[in-house]
Amino acid sequence: MTQLPKAKYRKDYQAPEFTITDVDLTFNLHPTETRVVSVLKVVRQGNHEKPLVLDGEQLTLLSIKVDGVKVPEDSYQCDEQNLTLDTSLDTFTLEIENSVNPTANEALEGLYLAEDTFCTQCEAEGFRRITYYLDRPDVLAKFTTTVIADLDKFPYVLSNGNKIKQAELDNGKHLATWQDPFPKPCYLFALVAGNFDVLRDKFTTREGRSVDLELFVDKGNLDRADHAMLSLKNAMKWDEERFDLVYDLDIYMVVAVDFFNMGAMENKGLNVFNAKYVLANPKTATDQDFLNVESVIGHEYFHNWTGNRVTCRDWFQLSLKEGLTVFRDQEFSSDLGSRAVNRIQDVRVIRSHQFAEDSGPMAHPIRPDKVVQMNNFYTVTVYNKGAEVIRMIHTLLGETGFQKGMKLYFERHDGNAVTCEDFVKAMEDANGQDFSVFRHWYSQAGTPVVTVEESYDANAKELTLKLKQATASTPGQEQKVPFHIPVKWSAYSEKGERLSLGNNDVLHLKESEASFTFENVAEKPILSLFDNFSAPVKVKRNLTDDELRVLLAHSEDDFSRWDAAQSLFTRIIEKAISNNSEAELSVKTIQACQNLLRANTDPALKALALTLPTASTIADGYKTIPVEAINTQLKSLKIQLAEALESDFTELLNACSSNKPYQLNGDDIARRQLKQICLSYLAELGDATVGNLKQQFEQADNLTDQLGALQASVWANNSVAEPLLNLFEKQWQGEKLVMDKWFSTQALANSEQTVERVKSLMTHPDFSLKNPNRIYSLLAAFTQNQPQFHRADGAGYELIGAIIQQLNASNPQVASRLLSAFVSWRRYDENRQQLMKKQLESLRNLPDLASDLFEKVESCLTE
Ligand code: TRP
Ligand code: ZN
Repeated sequence: MTQLPKAKYRKDYQAPEFTITDVDLTFNLHPTETRVVSVLKVVRQGNHEKPLVLDGEQLTLLSIKVDGVKVPEDSYQCDEQNLTLDTSLDTFTLEIENSVNPTANEALEGLYLAEDTFCTQCEAEGFRRITYYLDRPDVLAKFTTTVIADLDKFPYVLSNGNKIKQAELDNGKHLATWQDPFPKPCYLFALVAGNFDVLRDKFTTREGRSVDLELFVDKGNLDRADHAMLSLKNAMKWDEERFDLVYDLDIYMVVAVDFFNMGAMENKGLNVFNAKYVLANPKTATDQDFLNVESVIGHEYFHNWTGNRVTCRDWFQLSLKEGLTVFRDQEFSSDLGSRAVNRIQDVRVIRSHQFAEDSGPMAHPIRPDKVVQMNNFYTVTVYNKGAEVIRMIHTLLGETGFQKGMKLYFERHDGNAVTCEDFVKAMEDANGQDFSVFRHWYSQAGTPVVTVEESYDANAKELTLKLKQATASTPGQEQKVPFHIPVKWSAYSEKGERLSLGNNDVLHLKESEASFTFENVAEKPILSLFDNFSAPVKVKRNLTDDELRVLLAHSEDDFSRWDAAQSLFTRIIEKAISNNSEAELSVKTIQACQNLLRANTDPALKALALTLPTASTIADGYKTIPVEAINTQLKSLKIQLAEALESDFTELLNACSSNKPYQLNGDDIARRQLKQICLSYLAELGDATVGNLKQQFEQADNLTDQLGALQASVWANNSVAEPLLNLFEKQWQGEKLVMDKWFSTQALANSEQTVERVKSLMTHPDFSLKNPNRIYSLLAAFTQNQPQFHRADGAGYELIGAIIQQLNASNPQVASRLLSAFVSWRRYDENRQQLMKKQLESLRNLPDLASDLFEKVESCLTE
């Protein structure tokens, strides 16, 4: 019996017994037997008695020397996880030689070879698959790296920092030595070797220093690299202007690779990117892809200060860098593009994914207390809720106070590995604030529910607002204490005029219950609460539909306008479900939608407001999720809206269609987005619109429009769906990133044939279970297809369950991402619960279940 994976607890943190100050690595790259020589300067920090315990997994140890002398076999032990060395020395040089097999590495953690590129991924604990080391983020060392590889096959050999040497060797090989002057934890180490096309540019910092920018892409892809380069320069400039942060090396490299488990990785001076967040041109990428490239390029660049210069003490502090860096990339996108659109999209992620995580068995605070497999904690909670928590600090302090806090944070902690607490303390101290209640956002999991009661006393001209908060228990946290919840608000008359009731636009709810009184209120106001989604909470409130429509039409806060529309739609659906009747769309609501469509408003906001809430957002309101009812009601509401607003949609569609060539700018992106919404409604009206769709598909000079037409057809299941799918496939076969969208489009189709379709697509030549992007585009997309993944006969569960079993051995990190679809199994009806549980149990019975899956399966099946 193999050992069961063990949990680690945040409270057990101990400073390392030893540290490493300098690392000298030499890689002799070979597909199946790469040799690694690692020379470490080791310094004892703690107790004299303790042995040196290095981490190491899936390595072959070849030799070990201390201060140049071979270590006798009885002075060290080596097992599956550690290399333990008994020594009484306090400072010494340790030289280790080991080998690894990059070809066999399908998990894409550590050093791997995929399609002729050697690549590393070390976060969180992948460096231990390269060589024996103190693989923890609070050990910071200066790295020097020499890479030796075949000159022909791998003309570029890259690592962190500056290139200090390069040479051709006689055996057809060459080498390069790289030196990174900034001490860093090993999770920021990177090595890449391959053959690329390179896009080069320069950035001059505001101090006048010139930085070389190099973007490495697969041969033949240079025409898709410009947008990433532009985004990088924009990010560098933005960070100087908004955060006063300047880049610190003379070179910044970005490599785009096809095989990558996640989005991208911020390795010092050498980012590694999933190609889908680098490559973009109008023919092969949608508007959303362009925006994603900008945001991920920004994200990884911003890590240079928030993550690399100041890093995490331990992995429980992950949100220290991720929450903060997501906040920074959100602000970057908002400053460069539409702030309102970005905000609404970020809220959609929270509501449809983070709230679900918070209410399931894997719920965890943004700073977790207990972890089995760290890879399982790269979550929407740590990232996106983490960013919401930073945003609340920003709301509490304002931009100036927030930047004062950032300045103090860097003054105190530059070059160190620190905690979330250190960040909060810097924010507090720089502003003379007390965040003792606010801190609970770091320690408590779960989504607070805020209940709102309002009463207006016409005689006294007084409005009283009573707010209560409650948070359901989460695993390991029975009782919750109140959070500090900032409530941003504005007020309106029944006619929609802005009312000014006092000058404080943020209320602070810090108790389980609080009352706020407004005096001299001449008429009963309509309050817009939680403007800009000022806190990641759910709100219970009895606004009338009329009041919601006033907010939809008049709130000065764009988020609140959108939110009012979402509430109106959600209500209709919930009411229909509880009455077991057809969704009822009132004349007044149709009117409100029509007014919106005709208003002089940002087209992108119109598009977002008219996008129905996702099935998972609606599901969030139910203890037991009524899968079929949600599906039926959403569909019926969509058709009713399409029928009621047909002429408006048609008119707008024409107004938004243009013969101008494609341009990537805010106005055109918004216009295309609105056009797409119109199309998707009109497509519900049967075959009348197929002419439009076909025409748009054929005439499109860009992927946004082409894919838009395809999706509208396939998702409405009309008569051109199959022909367009075939045309698209013919045109784009072999173009993997474009084909990913073809796979997703089909996986997301709400059709009874979808399960079978997905199965047969797995045999398509462009599909492969070895490449995460293909798995995400077909299979992870399918798990987001509520009605079809949750098919009552369990066919969806069986399909994905079998894939997870297969991936358990080859790529557990990706397997675990797919498993997330089963985590909320208790929220479904008895029949579905049994079927999902069956999959979870058969996973639990697997021999050699990976720790990633073990952790989730156990928390799912624990009572
Ligand atoms: N730190 C990366 C980011 O910017 C996340 C990441 C990339 C990652 N690759 C990974 C996390 C592999 C875990 C495993 O968000
Ligand atoms: Zn990140």
